[in-house]
Amino acid sequence: MDKKFYITTPIYYPSDNLHIGHTYCTVAADCVKRFKKMQGYDVFFTTGTDEHGQKIQEKAKDSGMEPKAYVDKIVSNIKKLWNTLDIDYDSFIRSTDEVHEKNVQNIFQKLYDKGDIYKGEYEGYYCTPCESFWTEAQLGEGHTCPDCGRETHLTHEESYFFRLSKYKDKLLELYENNPEFIEPAFRKNEMIKSFFETGEGLEDLSVSRSTFDWGVKVPFDEKHVVYVWIDALSCYLTALGLGTDDDKMDEFWPADVHFVGKEIMRFHVIIWPALLMALDLPLPKKVFGHGWILFDNDKMSKSKGNVIYPEPIIKLYGVDALKYFLLREFSFGSDGSFNIEKFMQRLNSDLANDLGNLLSRTVSMVKKYNDGKLIDMGVTEDVDNELKDMAVSTVDEVEKAMEHYHFSIALEAIWKLIRRTNKYVDETEPWKLAKDEDSKDRLNTVLYNLAESLRIVSILIHPFIKNTSVEIRKQLGLEDEVNWEDSRVFGLIEDRTTVLKGDVIFPRLDIEKEIERFNEENEALLKSRLGDNSNKDEDLDTKEEVTIDDLDKLDIRVAKVVEVLDHPNADRLYVLKLKIGNSNRQIVTNLKSKYSKEDLIGKKILVLVNLKPIKIRGVESVGMLLAAEDESGEISIASTLEDIKEGAKIC
Ligand code: MSP
Repeated sequence: MDKKFYITTPIYYPSDNLHIGHTYCTVAADCVKRFKKMQGYDVFFTTGTDEHGQKIQEKAKDSGMEPKAYVDKIVSNIKKLWNTLDIDYDSFIRSTDEVHEKNVQNIFQKLYDKGDIYKGEYEGYYCTPCESFWTEAQLGEGHTCPDCGRETHLTHEESYFFRLSKYKDKLLELYENNPEFIEPAFRKNEMIKSFFETGEGLEDLSVSRSTFDWGVKVPFDEKHVVYVWIDALSCYLTALGLGTDDDKMDEFWPADVHFVGKEIMRFHVIIWPALLMALDLPLPKKVFGHGWILFDNDKMSKSKGNVIYPEPIIKLYGVDALKYFLLREFSFGSDGSFNIEKFMQRLNSDLANDLGNLLSRTVSMVKKYNDGKLIDMGVTEDVDNELKDMAVSTVDEVEKAMEHYHFSIALEAIWKLIRRTNKYVDETEPWKLAKDEDSKDRLNTVLYNLAESLRIVSILIHPFIKNTSVEIRKQLGLEDEVNWEDSRVFGLIEDRTTVLKGDVIFPRLDIEKEIERFNEENEALLKSRLGDNSNKDEDLDTKEEVTIDDLDKLDIRVAKVVEVLDHPNADRLYVLKLKIGNSNRQIVTNLKSKYSKEDLIGKKILVLVNLKPIKIRGVESVGMLLAAEDESGEISIASTLEDIKEGAKIC
């Protein structure tokens, strides 16, 4: 096969579980793969995870995990999600794959040997708590960190630089001579503007970091790790077999299209082509910058609590409903706003009413009026031709739209045909024809035409919503396998094909009730992601419930043990002398069998200090130390994780 096509999604950060925005791009790329394959292309589709960098290192640390263990967990969720969505990728590249790390090192070395990478000094504004460098232009008011808002300071760090400036003219030439390189076209202007106005792309690029170590080591200077974007972009090459399978590289590189979100366009249209030029590799043919999915017109973010995850939608309404909505509702190049009610309305109108009804009406009528058999008796009327012309020409509209990744326009064209076919039912009124024995042949022709139109629809929707295509074909008595070219011809269903009544493909939703059901499912997912059993109390035999006011009555403090004395009247007791802030306290405790005096002296312990004083064997005890005791009677004194000043309150 000599028609080749290479498509990629971004290489996602597994810093968190992926949401509907990431799903959008992956579903779109998967659709293109299926579409191109049906058109006779040999397609390679890459997705994957970008696992290095400071952010991930910090996230892992916050979760108390090693970075690799942390990303492993998220990557497994991502793969599970793509699997559920039946994403037909050919390579899932992880930037921590050994072969990839080796490739990144080779690339770095090659560019260094060539003189395109050199050692220099990076000047930037450093935010110590975030361990991040910023340029002056990125800073907030008063030179504060754009991430955390704290003050930054001007600093210098040794770094390797890529001679991006050397490629400035060649890049401008690229944009000039290849108007289709950046799509949609309006993004091209944004990019070129940023090129000149912010100076981005004109200055050499810092391509190593020495302030953290979760990354690919610079091969000749192990103090440095390679800048994550060099690492991530190179994934597009490793996934194709760079370093392991030259044939595949030769076959599929350069990429036909990289799908990326609008905010990462600049890395793909400035840094990436410059790197490839430096490596003497051909450039991708196109970078398509899609828009963002917002939530009720607002950016989705975990801190705002408005992130939509695909799993609950898939669980309740199926893979195809989600895919259809994503590809139909939004225009791929622009931003769009997600809203669950809008999703349900579209499901009801397009999938349940238009398509679902057409299928169930058609199959029921064929069953009822003609014993389930499709027979074309060739009794044609004018109205048939209108339907036939539209049916066989829809494929051209779909192809035209898909050339520019206008998924929504392609689906709109298919739905125009579906609605036209529904109208054909109303025009021909098969139920009336059925009443008249003389109209039997005309009735057969009408029913056959309906099935034919649906057959063509089943081919055209195949790259978008495959499961639905398969189900329609099953009910029409056709095999699953589809041939794209068969959508250009009317009349291919064989005589006497028997239809098969099946389930309703998209049941209508009672939107009000469904919103409630969706919210519950969503909450359940968020809960399960906090930990499988985060709030299950089955084994915990708790005391009576208290309120925060009850807790407020207890005054628990950190106390330092300054002296440990034997109780004068009891062999098994100690008298502890404590320092709590500027006060001294004495408490009696029975931990003599477990702890020696040396174990305790100098230690910080927790003491309930407002407990009513009592006398124990004649010695006053003012307060009580806190300790844990398990079922076997094993005891351990409670303390704080870090050393903290005595007197500190437990809150
Ligand atoms: N790791 C880099 C990509 C490296 S590619 C060599 C990265 N990862 S990311 O996980 O943060 O983002 C991946 C993609 O998800 C980006 O293209 C981004 O635009 C997209 N999206 C993130 N949120 C989005 C929406 N709300 N809507 C649509 N896409 C969005 O950047």
